Amino acid sequence: MKVALVLPLLTCAAIATPVSIHDTAQSPFGAITAAKYPGFDLDLDALRLVQFEGQTEPVLVTELAKIQAKAQGVAFFDVTDTLGLGSRAHLRDAQKTFPAPRHPDGVHSVLENLEIQNLRENLEKFTSFRNRYYRSDTGKASQKWLLGKIKEITRNSASKTLRDVISIQEFLHPWPQSSIIARINGSLTADDGVIIISAHQDSTNKWPYLPAPGADDDGSGTMSILEAYRALIASDFHPERAVEFHWYAAEEGGLLGSQAVAQAYEDCDVNVVATIQFDMTAWVKNGTREEVGIITDFVDPVLTEYNKKLVELYLDIPWVATKCGFACSDHASWTKAGYPASSLIESQWENNNREHAHTTHDRYDVSEEFSFSHMLEFSKLAVAFAVELGGWQR
Ligand SMILES: *[C@@H]1O[C@H](CO)[C@@H](O)[C@H](O)[C@H]1NC(C)=O
Ligand SMILES: *[C@@H]1O[C@H](CO)[C@@H](O)[C@H](O)[C@H]1NC(C)=O
Repeated sequence: MKVALVLPLLTCAAIATPVSIHDTAQSPFGAITAAKYPGFDLDLDALRLVQFEGQTEPVLVTELAKIQAKAQGVAFFDVTDTLGLGSRAHLRDAQKTFPAPRHPDGVHSVLENLEIQNLRENLEKFTSFRNRYYRSDTGKASQKWLLGKIKEITRNSASKTLRDVISIQEFLHPWPQSSIIARINGSLTADDGVIIISAHQDSTNKWPYLPAPGADDDGSGTMSILEAYRALIASDFHPERAVEFHWYAAEEGGLLGSQAVAQAYEDCDVNVVATIQFDMTAWVKNGTREEVGIITDFVDPVLTEYNKKLVELYLDIPWVATKCGFACSDHASWTKAGYPASSLIESQWENNNREHAHTTHDRYDVSEEFSFSHMLEFSKLAVAFAVELGGWQR
């Protein structure tokens, strides 16, 4: 993948003329005095190209207008740097099929190695950064911490032969926080397929300069897949085809990190076989049944059915089908690129933790509804996805 880790050079000659420049006087956040907030590299007047639901052409808006739209609950792609994403999707539109799950022994051997305590310890540290905003110093520091933790886990948990086929890299962006990619190469050299398991590492408050612990959104998904990665390599998992773990930067800026990665993979014609995104895995709303929310819109329907089977086979809780809307998380970038994408959430959409998401209260200690054992169910699913789709000749 080293070859793919080059920022795509895009010509921006096709940028549309401005159709809407936001009037900063209407800011719900009061007077804009960004200078009061050191440690941010954020130009509220910068122009961004944004694709909203139902629009065929992106529109030019200011960074501030983008932030305000998000604060009002509107989801979008910021396509400024990735205008070409999906331009070759039509070449990949043959529906992929997935073989029936066939590695129960392998999956169970890894599930035994999952440890709930790791979720707690790592999330405690990860939420101690003031925020993980992708254009902030603390968002850069949290990313560096995560990178160091992945390297430490790999040093401590992987056998020598496994370490030799693992690469851990930062995918650089035009903003401070990098995305992180950990790759376990496949043992079958004839198979150039890649399985991708992902979460987003950044957090935000509705007003980005404020603290944003982001325990559930998406510290939880970040840690669910990190613990899956640790248990897999501690079990000496040698996949037949490459398995990658992605922690995206800047999901909260309009799926920026995942679009950049998907664009690079598309440009390099990477054979992405299946992707799965974990965005919010901790909350079990009081009075509701504990379940895995399987997103059914803007995903690959066949892969989504496959995930239902994995839940039935390997998890201790049932699935429930639910929708999350346009551009709601990073799976949308892979769908746009024409690759099979799937996505999970902690509950039925109506029961998720949006009361606390994007506020200073998105912490793991605000309620008993924040559940580490629920997070661990998602680690199980990430393990099953890696083993069943990556293959494993033990
Ligand atoms: C993984 O495989 C790729 C593609 O075959 C190769 O370029 C890369 O060097 C390998 N990485 C490791 C760590 O073996
Ligand atoms: C959950 O609901 C029960 C009763 O419905 C209540 O006693 C309890 O305090 C609630 N717990 C939380 C964490 O809100």
